[in-house]
Parts: sequence; C-alpha cells; structure tokens
Amino acid sequence: MCETEANLKGKVAVVTGGSAGMGFEAAKNLAKRGAKVIIASRNETKLKAARDEIEEISGNNQIAYRMLDLGSLKSVRNFATDVMTSERRLDILVNTAGAIGLPDKLTEDGLNLIMQVNYFGTFLLTYLLLPLLKSSAPSRIINGSASAMYIGELEFDHWNDIGRYNLVTSVANCKLAVTLFSVELDRRVKGTGVTSNSFDPFIVRDTDLFNNIPSILRDISKTFVDILGLRREEVGKQIAYLAAAPELERVSGMHYKFCFKWINHWLVNDKDLTRRLWEASKEAVGITKEEDWEANVVK
Ligand SMILES: NC(=O)c1ccc[n+]([C@@H]2O[C@H](COP(=O)([O-])OP(=O)(O)OC[C@H]3O[C@@H](n4cnc5c(N)ncnc54)[C@H](OP(=O)(O)O)[C@@H]3O)[C@@H](O)[C@H]2O)c1
Repeated sequence: MCETEANLKGKVAVVTGGSAGMGFEAAKNLAKRGAKVIIASRNETKLKAARDEIEEISGNNQIAYRMLDLGSLKSVRNFATDVMTSERRLDILVNTAGAIGLPDKLTEDGLNLIMQVNYFGTFLLTYLLLPLLKSSAPSRIINGSASAMYIGELEFDHWNDIGRYNLVTSVANCKLAVTLFSVELDRRVKGTGVTSNSFDPFIVRDTDLFNNIPSILRDISKTFVDILGLRREEVGKQIAYLAAAPELERVSGMHYKFCFKWINHWLVNDKDLTRRLWEASKEAVGITKEEDWEANVVK
C-alpha cells in the first residue's frame, strides 16, 4: 500500500501547513512527482526554508510559498484570491495546517481561535477554491483529521464558546468537524470530478505540533510519540498516495488511515447533521453572495 508511480507533471497542488511536519513531507513527495506545489502557512522564514529544501531535494523548481493564516478570514480570502487569479488550474488541495495548545480566545472575526485555525479556516479556503478545483477536474481534496474525532462533539450553539473545552476536547471537536465537512463536501460536489477524502495520520514523529503546549506535557507527549509514532516521511507518502494514485481518481467521501479505507465516524451517516454543519459553517465564515458557488449554480 501507499506505493504509486503516479507522475504529476503539469498538475498544481496547494498544501496548507506545507512548511513543517507532515504537510512539508507531503509537499516534498508531490514535488518529486513533478507537480507545481504551493505551500502555505504563517511564518515566512519557515516557508522560505521549506521551499528551498523541497526544491533542492526534489530538483523541482516550481515550488512557491504564500502566506496564509487560517486564524484570520481576511488572510484566507486574500490567499484564495491570489491562487484563483495567479493559477490557471488547481488539481490537488491538501489541508494539513493545524495547531494545538492555542489560547482559548476569540479571533478578530469573533470565532474561537482553536476552531478557526483547525476548522473554519480550512472550510472557507476549500469553499473559495472549489470553482478552480471544479474547472480543473478531475481534482482532489485531502482533509487532515485525527483519531481524536471519535471523542469530539458538535454543539453549534457553543462551538465558539470560551472556557467550555479543554486542550484535548477543543481539538477533538475540530477534527470531527473536518471529517463531517469532508463527507458533506463529497455529497455536494458529486458528479463534478472533484473528490473529497479525509485521513487520519495516526501519530507522527518529528513535527512541530507540540511546540505550543506546556513543557511537561510536551516532554511526555514527545516521548510517547517518539516510541509509537510513524516517521513523518511515511505520512507524507500516505498523503501523496491519496492525492496522486490513479486508482483513487474517483474515490470520494472516504476516510483513510495507513492508505487503507478506514472506518469513519458514525455521524457521517447523519445527513441532517452534516447538512447543518455545512450551513452553520457558511454562516460562521460569512460566505458572501459572490462567493456562494452553490447559489450561483445555474440549474
Ligand atoms: N503530529 C501528529 O502526531 C498528529 C496526529 C494526528 C493529527 N495531526 C494533525 O495534523 C496537522 C499537522 O500536524 P503536524 O504534526 O504536521 O504539525 P506541525 O509540524 O506543527 O505543522 C503544522 C503546520 O501548520 C501550519 N500552521 C499552524 N497554524 C497555522 C495557521 N493559523 N494558519 C496557517 N498555517 C498554520 C504551521 O506553520 P506556521 O506555524 O508557520 O503557520 C505548519 O506548517 C495538525 O492539524 C495536527 O493536529 C497531527
């Protein structure tokens, strides 16, 4: 499993969180296959260094970086506009950016920071890039989730509350939202040639994920991860497999782990819930009339 000879010459990929961890490895793998890869995150120094390293290792000089802060709706809109105007196509969108241990506070958009960085920002970005993904079809969206989703819950009246969720439950809720969004997205783009799948990377070694959490917790987590975790190159390979393998071109609405179709969260079958999540997410990020490709579809 996870092995594919797929060549991506002529294809364009966006990898959020491509400056570090598994996103960096995914971007590297896609670059080795010949794709033009745009990596996106907040820190320009990290992005530049990642771009240089990917170019050097892959021998592919079509690697670009763009600034993106998922914790700011304005930043997501600017990034999406930039991609929509500068790229003629978009074949692959890999959503791996995320963070834990963030302060429990509201953003300038009035949303819970943890929810915004780990879910709302990704929802908005994907929504805005959908027209370009559609016009480039067959194209693929790969959404990073985690096993934490199994303990997550969605309380639409409280999901932006401060002081309600702890370090673990807040991230679990985001991962559940990403997984359910991924399935609802599949339902909404059926027949367009765009696929939407989520994946669980299990536990990954040598990433920056624990940098924001208190030092004692960080040391314990890192020890645990070093013993049990997968090499991050391995996870990058898994993501690239989902993004590139020809046999997955039409596979959509699935959840993957270790490159296998994996048992998804039971709530994916609750279509009323996933529909409600979609509508509530559109409202939370303030999708405008012009951005609303669902309303703009000629029936
Ligand atoms: N590592 C694991 O064991 C594991 C297991 C399950 C799930 N996951 C999930 O997988 C995702 C990636 O994890 P990782 O281990 O690869 O983490 P990582 O090494 O910390 O990489 C995270 C990436 O996301 C970017 N990022 C963080 N906050 C951002 C923001 N507000 N806007 C845009 N980009 C942002 C980071 O760059 P900047 O900070 O420079 O913006 C970085 O490029 C996370 O969502 C994590 O929850 C990880």
